[in-house]
Amino acid sequence: MAIYVVANKKGGIGKSTTAVQLVTGLSLKGRRVWAVDGDGDQTSMLLALTVRANSGLPGIAACELSEGQTLRQQVKLQADMYDDVVIDVGAKDSGALRAALSVADVLVIPFAPRTFDVWAFENMAALVREVQAMRDFKVLAFLNKADPANQDADNKQAIEDIGRYGYQISPVSIGDRKSLAHASAAGQHVSEFKSADPVLRREVAALLEFITTA
Ligand SMILES: Nc1ncnc2c1ncn2[C@@H]1O[C@H](COP(=O)(O)OP(=O)(O)OP(=O)(O)O)[C@@H](O)[C@H]1O
Ligand SMILES: [Mg+2]
Repeated sequence: MAIYVVANKKGGIGKSTTAVQLVTGLSLKGRRVWAVDGDGDQTSMLLALTVRANSGLPGIAACELSEGQTLRQQVKLQADMYDDVVIDVGAKDSGALRAALSVADVLVIPFAPRTFDVWAFENMAALVREVQAMRDFKVLAFLNKADPANQDADNKQAIEDIGRYGYQISPVSIGDRKSLAHASAAGQHVSEFKSADPVLRREVAALLEFITTA
């Protein structure tokens, strides 16, 4: 059993998108998964998984636990009933974010290729240092909303800059792709989503492989 937390204190960086792809991808592999939405302001993952269930696709267990102490307590109580738990949290330095890190086995941090986003990464890294002083967990990062291959200078720079933190970085980045946004809002893995092209499907499959085996 592994508890995955998708977090970054930067807003709109792709946390909920990643959490939906991770939880649906694990479910499609036959894993019993539980999606915990820790973002009380905006329960994107929970809403997306509700859209999924309403559309007739196999449902995925999901709930909102946005109060820190309750999140920690309930995850500790219930996690063993599942093969994997995926926790999505909001961008704020909330009790839910800290509670999620206090139970995480693997922290997944999406980052984006713009300078402001790279600068903002230090806020997240400082929190990781603070929590890791108390307990250890794996930290994985990946470039999301990457620029296309023919304009990839910012991608390379961001990967180099974030690489200095010493976290494992996914060798495959996720492009800035409208169909990923649409699939995730429908609570669907890109492999289930008709308009997702093979390149995007390969990228997301490679990311899932990295997250689950790194
Ligand atoms: N790789 C991508 N390609 C295209 N759009 C993306 C990609 N990743 C995320 N998005 C879009 O960017 C926006 C922000 O994504 P998302 O909600 O997943 O970020 P977040 O980090 O969870 O935000 P918040 O901090 O508000 O919780 C959404 O509209 C989403 O559809
Ligand atoms: Mg979110």
